[in-house]
Amino acid sequence: GMMREIVGLSVLEKQIREKLKVRNVIIVPGNSDEYEWVKQEMGKACVTYLKKIVTTRSIIAVTGGTTMAAIADVMTPLNHRILFVPARGGVGEKAENQASSIVSQMAHKANGEYRQLFVPDPISESAYQTLIDEPMIRDVLEHIKGSNIVIHGIGDANTMAKRRKTSEETMRKLITNHAVSEAFGYYFNQDGAVVHKVRTVGLQLEDLSSIDHVIAVAGGTSKAEAIESYFKQGKSDLLITDEAAAEQILRGK
Ligand code: G3H
Repeated sequence: GMMREIVGLSVLEKQIREKLKVRNVIIVPGNSDEYEWVKQEMGKACVTYLKKIVTTRSIIAVTGGTTMAAIADVMTPLNHRILFVPARGGVGEKAENQASSIVSQMAHKANGEYRQLFVPDPISESAYQTLIDEPMIRDVLEHIKGSNIVIHGIGDANTMAKRRKTSEETMRKLITNHAVSEAFGYYFNQDGAVVHKVRTVGLQLEDLSSIDHVIAVAGGTSKAEAIESYFKQGKSDLLITDEAAAEQILRGK
């Protein structure tokens, strides 16, 4: 609105930094619930930021979802030959929204390299143990553990659970435990506590604290509560979001 045009987005960024206690916030105009191009604007902000932080040795781990796919859409050549890896194995998404397809597109556009990770989802405990010993999978997992940049989406728990082939039992668990947000296949309640975790290989939540740059990209009014919930446990150091999500977060429920 009018006020926003006068004060600009930098004031909004400062308010979100303080409210979510996140080190760095970038806000783009618009509402990605309404327009697909707003996701691409967040994507462009992410690519610009990547250009500042990548080095020859960078390994970028990426999650799935439509926001990550939008970043891949707007990816441009990076200054170094970067390796892109999926952050985690499949988490029930459609092929085009899976991390493994997103990294191949990102690498192609960035003139980089990529590794893919094809693991069944959901995966049984015994299959999991066998798989992580497979040399090809182990090789990718080592690259993932060596990543120093992570880019991830944040989803509304209910939306994500429905979009994925979530069992009725898990659905009930998510409802009973008041899941609000989802990221990396982890579901969080409004206090940021993990209430459910999709079993898959790759990055675990506890790995994030030792990674140099953890970048969350999520926007749209519908994700305001989810973003707030995710940042309660505060493992990411940059949030790229849109104006609509930011305003809704400040408005509160
Ligand atoms: O893993 C998926 C993200 O958490 C959210 O997906 O970008 O399609 O909303 P999205």
